[in-house]
Amino acid sequence: MKPQVNIGLLGLGTVGSGVYQVLQENGEELAKRTGLPIRIKSIAVRDLDKERLVEVPSDLLTTDAVKVVNDPDIDIVVEVMGGIEGTKDLLLTAFRNGKSVVTANKDLIAEHGEELTLAAVRSGCDFLYEASVGGGIPIIRPLRKDLAGNRIHEVMGIVNGTTNFILTRMSQSGMAFEDALKEAQALGYAEANPASDVEGWDAGRKIAIVASLAFNSRVNFPDVDVEGITAITARDIEYAKEMGYAIKLIGCAKETENGKISAQVYPALVPLEHPLASVNGAYNAIFVRGNAIGEAMFLGLGAGQLPTASAVVGDIVEAVRNFHAGTRGKFLVDCYHKKEVQSALDNHHRFYLRLEVADQAGVLGAIAGKIGQHGVSIQTMFQKWADNKTAEIVVITHQVREGALRNALNELGDMEHVRAIKQTLRVVD
Ligand code: NAP
Ligand code: HSE
Repeated sequence: MKPQVNIGLLGLGTVGSGVYQVLQENGEELAKRTGLPIRIKSIAVRDLDKERLVEVPSDLLTTDAVKVVNDPDIDIVVEVMGGIEGTKDLLLTAFRNGKSVVTANKDLIAEHGEELTLAAVRSGCDFLYEASVGGGIPIIRPLRKDLAGNRIHEVMGIVNGTTNFILTRMSQSGMAFEDALKEAQALGYAEANPASDVEGWDAGRKIAIVASLAFNSRVNFPDVDVEGITAITARDIEYAKEMGYAIKLIGCAKETENGKISAQVYPALVPLEHPLASVNGAYNAIFVRGNAIGEAMFLGLGAGQLPTASAVVGDIVEAVRNFHAGTRGKFLVDCYHKKEVQSALDNHHRFYLRLEVADQAGVLGAIAGKIGQHGVSIQTMFQKWADNKTAEIVVITHQVREGALRNALNELGDMEHVRAIKQTLRVVD
């Protein structure tokens, strides 16, 4: 038995430096918990001269990530550098070399999760990715283990810290979208390409990962219907507040009555009395509904250096324990079903619509009549302002099939008296 476990760290940015710091600070305790001292043997970065968030002996750093995954002394590869194709090749090499892998890389798992899982099983190594969803919140392990006795019906919640931070700043301090995004980037919450956050792709990838585990059927990122927050305006936030709602980016994966999976990410009006409405800043919250547990909610910081490092180091601890006990790679492939992913058009929601229409008698009735022809029934409708030419109206619909709503909006857009459909958002019940 080796006297210690050697880690090869790929990346020393926000998350990597957090992992380094936690392993240094909690090292003695972790050695007792796992039975073996954990040593970082080498760290791959792009730029050896860059200033780091942590002080690291320079002889640990290398720009050769391939050398790290081929180093026979390294037992566990911890990938916190991001990227998809090149990174996948590095992890496949690590598995071929008999190394367990811990990663925070949701982009990679949401696209190549199946290939990587099969490679891990084939090589008898662990493949752990708790940090890929919800930052510091435990959700992958609960779905795989603690909640495995359930038939899961739904996983839904706030799964992106950057967008929740932006929406909170816009709502509570009236901050502009761009300024709030800059602050989120400075705090280390955002992805290298922040479009990933604000366009909803990051949340979509996380929903693909949790849906695959919850329903034991592979859901890849392209299967998820995704809408981001870039079209949300201060006016929508204000109107939502007036009506008793907060606007949140929601990710949702459900098993439908006909045995399909529905997977969506969208900004939505959430009633202020709903627990998700008060989840603010970089916090994430994920609800899991199962036939035995009922409902469970997981809450915590969803992004940032140390919360994410907490999840990565938790996986390292599991990998080291398995290494020590000789139980590495003793897991089964999670996705043994092949369930169809339902088109978002078949999902049912209530909707918030904001329209600019001609300020004339009979227009509201004509709008109600037109959308009514598509089975869209109005719950509330009121006028926000008018200037003799144009009036702005806000409509909340009853639950309707999304496809029917889209057809109604297409026809509404062609009506002479409708100047613009300014906003369409879902409303969480
Ligand atoms: P980051 O701050 O940009 O750090 C990336 C690190 O990887 C940097 O140290 C960079 O080197 C290194 N790197 C990139 N490409 C490399 C290459 N080809 N070879 C060697 N080193 C390379 O990113 P991060 O925020 O830590 O995120 C890392 C991963 O964790 C991503 O997959 C992200 O999605 C995921 N994640 C992040 C968070 C978060 O809150 N930030 C939370 C959960 C998951 P240099 O420093 O020399 O440029
Ligand atoms: N950019 C991601 C977020 C990091 O803001 O949630 C955590 O996965």
